[in-house]
Amino acid sequence: MTAQRIDGKDLAAQLRAGLAERAAALRASGRQPALAVVLVGDDPASQVYVRNKIAACKQAGILSVHHALDAGVREGELLARIHALNHDDAVHGILVQLPLPRHIDSQRVIEAISPLKDVDGFHVANAGALLVGRPGLRPCTPLGCVRMLQHIGLSDLRGRHAVVVGRSNIVGKPMALMLLEMNATVTIAHSGTPDLAQTCRRADVLVAAVGRPRMIGGEMIKPGAAVIDVGINRLPDGTLCGDVDFAAASEVAGWITPVPGGVGPMTIAMLLANTLQACEQA
Ligand code: GUN
Repeated sequence: MTAQRIDGKDLAAQLRAGLAERAAALRASGRQPALAVVLVGDDPASQVYVRNKIAACKQAGILSVHHALDAGVREGELLARIHALNHDDAVHGILVQLPLPRHIDSQRVIEAISPLKDVDGFHVANAGALLVGRPGLRPCTPLGCVRMLQHIGLSDLRGRHAVVVGRSNIVGKPMALMLLEMNATVTIAHSGTPDLAQTCRRADVLVAAVGRPRMIGGEMIKPGAAVIDVGINRLPDGTLCGDVDFAAASEVAGWITPVPGGVGPMTIAMLLANTLQACEQA
């Protein structure tokens, strides 16, 4: 079998066109959707991510306001900035780029963001809302994965087994909850799962989010499965690769997402969607 590629770049572009229309409708009704992007320090990877997010906002007609803070900023000062943004009616979404410098408690910063403006969906109130089936703002990366599955016709996963490899708060855990919402039978596996290959081979939908280059080999995939690769790993030669061995997996899977050009662009599209949702509900 040769898997069909799920082109995240292409799908994200289609979705962004629709989002631009939603943004235009909001502006026409006198509301300019706006996202505050907070970057602390000068981590090169974070700078690239923030630049991409700001460019995507501009293209969709969403105002982005960049708050660049020095790497040595005191936690109290960052919290005060978030407090001010929470109370600014012209700001609908607040994104604090992670990771933060070590002297800052990331969870405390996330909890300081108003859940109504938490476009990353990381606040404990949004995480809890997803858990009890009354979702508010949802984490962007797993939401992008859901959109990709819907795009290939996998909207209802009743009778199917989904396996998520990875248990992070940002991807693994919310991904599992969203797959459960789609009626899948869900397994969360991780680096400590015995016989990971056997677990993965049961997956009709396999989501890899471990951050280990090409650790999911072709022999770990059920023939015909949908394989969603969240990993973005940089190899010593500078090239990017996912958590899945793309060439080997393509021989077995039914569908597969590439890296780059798969989940990454979808994450950004979902950030825009969340910002519009926050603006529409403000
Ligand atoms: N750093 C890596 N991924 C993310 C993300 O989705 N949101 C934020 N805020 N920071 C990140």
